[in-house]
Amino acid sequence: MKILTTGGAGFIGSHTCVELLNAGHEVVVVDNFVNSQKEAVHRVEELTGKTVQLYEADVCDPDAMEQIFSEHTFDAVIHFAGLKAVGESVAQPMRYYRNNLDSALTLCETMARHGCKRIVFSSSATVYGVPDEVPLREDMFCKGCTNPYGWTKYMIEKILMGICDADPEWSVVLLRYFNPIGAHESGRIGENPNGIPNNLMPFITKVAAGQLDHLNIFGNDYNTPDGTGVRDYIHVVDLARGHVNACEYAQQHSGCEIINLGTGVGYSVLDIVHAFEKVNGIKVPYVIAPRRPGDIAECYSDPRKAEQLLGWKAEKNLDDMCRDSWRWQKNNPNGYQA
Ligand code: UFG
Repeated sequence: MKILTTGGAGFIGSHTCVELLNAGHEVVVVDNFVNSQKEAVHRVEELTGKTVQLYEADVCDPDAMEQIFSEHTFDAVIHFAGLKAVGESVAQPMRYYRNNLDSALTLCETMARHGCKRIVFSSSATVYGVPDEVPLREDMFCKGCTNPYGWTKYMIEKILMGICDADPEWSVVLLRYFNPIGAHESGRIGENPNGIPNNLMPFITKVAAGQLDHLNIFGNDYNTPDGTGVRDYIHVVDLARGHVNACEYAQQHSGCEIINLGTGVGYSVLDIVHAFEKVNGIKVPYVIAPRRPGDIAECYSDPRKAEQLLGWKAEKNLDDMCRDSWRWQKNNPNGYQA
């Protein structure tokens, strides 16, 4: 298949490009590099020995999107592009709604004009809101998100469901990611957040590297086995493989499917710290800090639907995730900057 990836230079996008190319698909990337670097795409080419056609453009720009679609016939699109920092979305809601919703709509309008009706969307477990029970299943009622970022994911899901209802030729796969960590095992591509990381694993790797003094563990009084928050961490390469299967699924089916991509196993913050220290032989100093507003105690997936529909399940374990995250950090102390 020939696949357009929006945001293909980002963390999940770049790993997915590698898996798509390795599976024999052709890949075109559009990215505006607000939160990613061109070097990531060069490294995708280096890792796969294949070329990627790259457009530097904003998915919100209808003329730029029209140009790309007039130069190619895509079998499917994977829509990764979007602003994704939870705290920033609370401070800048208009920017988040404008950017994430405009880009999704512009993309879908351009696709419809060109008769490309297959899309895989980067959604998030955040759309489940505060869960009544875990594990989370795709058919559970979403009671509402806790921040504008989450609402943009929720709203884009609804937009795509509406498009499918109106035109049964569309094939939409809404992938709800749990917590992606790790990096390609080559250590050549990985997560490269701007500034001080918000998420747990990039923060841990910066502490381990001595770039940050210590980790703040946000609360140890949750109703969990050790009191710290529990999440379903998934290796980004497993997640990337899930997208390949989702594209192949979309080629054979029409309609809309919501699919969790997680391992089904929850680990606490302390589990992650201890596994990281053990597997990499390096200390991660931490202090217990107050709870972070908006955090929930536990979040992990029921991953069975992905196995049933996509024939996919996560294969890498927590040690792999910790080892690969550290290799990326160690080999690239300044991310993609030389
Ligand atoms: N945590 C810390 N210290 C830190 C950072 C995180 O203790 O410095 C804890 C959090 O309190 C939480 C766990 O580590 O218990 C994971 O936190 P992350 O910020 O890594 O991830 P979240 O589960 O909060 O959010 C992630 C993504 C969101 C997505 C959500 C879906 O960042 O984009 O998963 O559930 F919406």
